[in-house]
Amino acid sequence: MRLLHAFVAIAIAAMLAAAPARAVELSIVSGDTGNGIKVLREILDRYEKQSGNKVDIVVLPPSTTDQFGQFRLWLAAGNSDIDVYQTDVIWAPQLASQLVDLTAATKDVVSAHFPSIIQSQTVNGRLVALPIFTDAPALYYRKDLLDKYGAKVPTTWQELADTAKLVMDRERAAGNKDMWGFVFQGNAYEGLTCNALEWVMSNGGGQIIETDGAISINNPKAAAALEMVKGWIGTISPAGVLAYQEEESRGVWQTGNAVFMRNWPYAYALGNSENSPIKGKFDVAPLPAGTGEGARPVATLGGWNLAVSKYSRHPDVAIDLVKFIASPQMQKYRTLRTSNLPTIQALYDDPDIARQQPIVPRWKQIFLNAVARPSATVKIKYNEASSQFWTAVHNTISGDGSASDNLADLEARLTKLKGKGW
Ligand code: GLC
Repeated sequence: MRLLHAFVAIAIAAMLAAAPARAVELSIVSGDTGNGIKVLREILDRYEKQSGNKVDIVVLPPSTTDQFGQFRLWLAAGNSDIDVYQTDVIWAPQLASQLVDLTAATKDVVSAHFPSIIQSQTVNGRLVALPIFTDAPALYYRKDLLDKYGAKVPTTWQELADTAKLVMDRERAAGNKDMWGFVFQGNAYEGLTCNALEWVMSNGGGQIIETDGAISINNPKAAAALEMVKGWIGTISPAGVLAYQEEESRGVWQTGNAVFMRNWPYAYALGNSENSPIKGKFDVAPLPAGTGEGARPVATLGGWNLAVSKYSRHPDVAIDLVKFIASPQMQKYRTLRTSNLPTIQALYDDPDIARQQPIVPRWKQIFLNAVARPSATVKIKYNEASSQFWTAVHNTISGDGSASDNLADLEARLTKLKGKGW
C-alpha cells in the first residue's frame, strides 16, 4: 500500500513537471510609420512561437502627440488591458511614475546599448523603458535630378531653397506638373517641434529652452529661421505641408514629386523597396545649416522604446517580451526590414546591415551628435512646452503673425509655464 502511495505521488509529480506553463496573453500598444507595425507583428510571431504566449498589437495613429494623449488617459485610468507601451524618447520623464522599473531585470543586457540612450530612459535612477531603435533625420535628395541639372547637394538652407526652386521650375517646364522642391513635417504636432528645432538651432538661434532651464527662443536668429521657412510655403513647398506629418511627406516624395525631403531613416528602406518609383534614384545627406555666426547642421534626436505598465497583470512576462523585442537579434531583423537605426552598438559594424541598409553605419555619427529636445530639462511640463512651441511656429509659417511677435508671445507663455522652475 505504501509503495502504491509512493508510486502515485511520483506519477503526479512527473505529470506536473511535464505540464506546460499556462500561456499568457499580452497586449502591446504602438503607433508607427511606414511598415513599423507589420514588422513588429513579424517579431511578435517569433516571440509567440518561442514562448507559447500570445501578444496582440493595439494600433494607434502614427502621430506621437496623439499616442501620448491616449497613453496618459489609459495610465490615469489604471488600464490593465495594456501591458507594454511603445514610447517616444521624449516621454520618459512624463510617464515614469506609471511604468515598471526595468533596472534589475535588464542589467544583463543594457551595456550592449548606447549609454546615452539608456540614460535618456532613466528617470530618478529608474530605467523606465528599454530602447528598440533610435532616430536622427536626413536630407533625402533626388540624385538623378541634381545630376541632370548639375546641382550640388546643399549644405545651407539657402542653397537648398535655391536648388529646390531651380530643379522644380525646370521639371515643371518639362511637363512634370506635380513636382515640388522640398517636403517636411509642418503639421501642428511634435514632429514640427523636431523640424523647427533644426531650423532655429542650425541658424544659431539656440535650443528653445537651454539645458540650464533658460528660455532662449525669443531671439532674432530664431525669428529669421522661421521667416525663412514661411517663405518656402507655396513656393518650394506645397501649402499642404502645413498639415503634413512624416507619412504625408513621404507620400509626395516616394511618388517622385519632390526634389528634397526631411525625414527619419525609416523612409530609406521604403524608398528603395521593390515597387518604389524612386528606387535607386535618391541618396541621403546631413540636414543643411543656416548662415552667419553659430550656424551649423543640426539633427533632432528621436527614438522609440518599450515600457511595461505598472497596471499590467503579467509584469514579468511583459518584461521578457520587451527584452526579446529589444534584443540584438530582433533589432537586427527590424533594421534590415525598416532601416530604423539600432540602439545596440555592435550592429553598426554588422556587414549584413551595412550592405542592405547602408544609411545605418553612415548615420551613426549623425545620431551621436543629434540634439535632444528639452524634455529632460522641463520634465513633466514637456508636452505643454512643446505644444506652445509648435503652435507659435505653425502660426508663423502659416502667415498668422510675424515670427518676432509670435516668439515674444511664446516666451511669455513659457515663462508662465516654468513658474518657479521646471
Ligand atoms: C520620430 C522620432 C520621435 C519624434 C517623432 C516626431 O518618430 O523618432 O522621437 O517625436 O518622429 O514626429
